[in-house]
Amino acid sequence: MDKIFAKYDMSFLSGKRLRRLRQNEWIRDIVRENILTPKDLILPIFLIEGKNQKSKIKTLPNIFRLSIDLAIKQAELAYEKGVRAIALFAAADENKRDATASEALNADNLICRALSEIKSKVPQIGLISDVALDLYTSHGQDGLMENNIILNDESVEIMAQSALLQAKAGADIIAPSDMMDGRVGAIRSTLDDNGYENVAILSYSAKYASNFYGPFREAVGSAKLLKGDKRTYQLDFANSDEAMREIEQDLAEGADMIMIKPGLPYLDVIRRAADRFNIPIFAYQVSGEYSMIEYAAQNGALNKDGAIIESLLAFKRAGAMAIFSYYALEMAIKLND
Ligand code: PBG
Repeated sequence: MDKIFAKYDMSFLSGKRLRRLRQNEWIRDIVRENILTPKDLILPIFLIEGKNQKSKIKTLPNIFRLSIDLAIKQAELAYEKGVRAIALFAAADENKRDATASEALNADNLICRALSEIKSKVPQIGLISDVALDLYTSHGQDGLMENNIILNDESVEIMAQSALLQAKAGADIIAPSDMMDGRVGAIRSTLDDNGYENVAILSYSAKYASNFYGPFREAVGSAKLLKGDKRTYQLDFANSDEAMREIEQDLAEGADMIMIKPGLPYLDVIRRAADRFNIPIFAYQVSGEYSMIEYAAQNGALNKDGAIIESLLAFKRAGAMAIFSYYALEMAIKLND
């Protein structure tokens, strides 16, 4: 080819040809800054009552609600493929939901039975459980409600007791996703006072009032119950200073790890938190993020595996130590090959 650009003096580039480190696979492998392994991934599992039950979630393609026996199998497989922890979500049946979230305090509820059975059958895998009340309230809000106001301290009291039941049942990590003020401190002291000082807290410190939770709400049955929104407790998605204040507060109250959620639209928040706090940061690739990739891939708009790996690696690049993802098992299997 003719040197059309020969008239330009490129000598200034001699020490700055950045493409040298991208010219072939082996050098790219050496200089790669982040890698994705199955240990980075936490698998969320939706539970239902019964035996050998597997039910479809319309807006979460290829993800199923599982009865405990099937969840045990999934946990075994996940561990075998390198996933180190699972996050359990066990919504109460609609007829057990009420205004006081009473099922949250039933020591024999679905989540407690699941925790104890999975703990006894698959003791090697870490168990993370949520204490937000949206799985138990008749209105699908994360706290108790009176005159359309979400009650803070009353909700915290129930969640702290619920956390204790979950710890007794076998939870290794309590993960409050509710965004009530003071819940981390209340859970910490309740656990400590009852001999569960080794149960850790992963606080959803920066949980945004997001539009990306739709499929999750379908999965747990709160979508149709929920009136209004969650903006009096979840964060305004216009803010990130406020997320830093939430994290600071949760650390002061005793959080061991913190969660930023959703994930991909909030990479800036993950990076800010990683730069500022010396604490493991988790990110949640939420249900809407999962469904976007699924629907796009189904319609031929993108290469599915590539898009999944790229989005998961983005979390790591931003500073997350682990990622909750509905792709955890699928990706762990693929990463093993
Ligand atoms: C409930 C909870 C939600 C999610 C996790 N825990 C939904 C919500 O706050 O309405 C969403 C997770 C997802 O979308 O995958 N507190």
